[in-house]
Amino acid sequence: MKAHLTRRYYFPASHRLHRDELSEAENREVYGKCNNPHGHGHNYALEVTVSGPVDGSTGMVCNLAELDAFAHNKVISTFDHANLNCLPAFRDKVPSTENLCVEIFDRFQKGFTSAKVEKIRIEETSKNSFEYAG
Ligand code: NI
Repeated sequence: MKAHLTRRYYFPASHRLHRDELSEAENREVYGKCNNPHGHGHNYALEVTVSGPVDGSTGMVCNLAELDAFAHNKVISTFDHANLNCLPAFRDKVPSTENLCVEIFDRFQKGFTSAKVEKIRIEETSKNSFEYAG
């Protein structure tokens, strides 16, 4: 018997969508206001979905405390109140929320072994959300 579990976390961070190889005008054309030189912030809502067999004795897919500990120590601690452009993960990659989903999915998939990591979903604003499932 397999079930899915989705857990939600919140963290604020800032970013600027910009590529050095483009001209100023091209960057504005591609990224619009998101290319503002001083960046801008979001209150990101991160959802991680994991799956697995429901344990016969605990009745759970995985231990929520373990999931929370991993999320806080290996993911949130990196991105919380950060300027995403300054992080090594985005040295050569635009810190779009699409790419943030990929980065966070990879961290969970490599490091969290108590359940299968199915999907990362990030709400950037009330209008935008992004998903990545590998
Ligand atoms: Ni933005």
